[in-house]
Amino acid sequence: MIDNTLLRDAERYTRERLSDKRYAHTLRVAETAERLARLHGLDPNRARLAGLLHDAAREVGREELLRISEEENLPVSDLERERPMLLHGPVAAELARKDLRVEDTEVRDAVRVHTTGEPGMGTLALALYVADKIEPDRDQPGVEDLRELALEDLRQAAKAALEDSIAHNEQRGRPTHAKSLETLRWLDSGYECPSGDGV
Ligand SMILES: [Fe+2]
Ligand SMILES: [Fe+2]
Repeated sequence: MIDNTLLRDAERYTRERLSDKRYAHTLRVAETAERLARLHGLDPNRARLAGLLHDAAREVGREELLRISEEENLPVSDLERERPMLLHGPVAAELARKDLRVEDTEVRDAVRVHTTGEPGMGTLALALYVADKIEPDRDQPGVEDLRELALEDLRQAAKAALEDSIAHNEQRGRPTHAKSLETLRWLDSGYECPSGDGV
C-alpha cells in the first residue's frame, strides 16, 4: 500500500537530488506512468512512486554510482563499468529501499530496470519504461505512434520503444546493453508474463 506520505517523501527526495530540468522530467514521467496505470488496470500510486524515483540517482557522479553499487553488492557488467550512468536505475532502487524504506519490490524493480528493460519485467516496469519514453516533452521521431500504442498495449509499446533505443545506439555507434537485447528477444518471443495478470 503506497500512501500519500510516501509519495510526498519521494517527491521531496528527488527534488533535492535533481536539477530543475530533470526534476520537471521526473514529474512528467510520474504523471504519465500514473495515467498509463489507470488505463491498464494497474495501481496508479505505485506507478507514480516508480516515476518519482526512477531518475533519483541520475545526477550521482560516475565514481559514486560505482561505489554505491559495490557497497550494495549490485552486479556491475563491463559495459556498466565503462558507462556507470547505466547504473542509475539499480542505484535509485537501492536508495529507495535504504533511504525511503520502499518495500514494494515491483516498484523497486520498475525503477531498477527502467534504462535497459529486463526479460520477465512486470507490467508496472513496462508502464514506467514506456512513460519515460513518451512523457509530454519527448519529441523523438515516432513518439506520437508510441503514445498511441501505449494507450492500447504496454508490451507492444515497450517493444517499439526498445527497438527505437537500440537503433539510436547503433546510429551513434554506441553499444547496447545486453539486457536490452535480451528484453527485446523476450518481448518478441511469446514471453510469459511472470505475474500472469495479462495487461
Ligand atoms: Fe533514467
Ligand atoms: Fe527518465
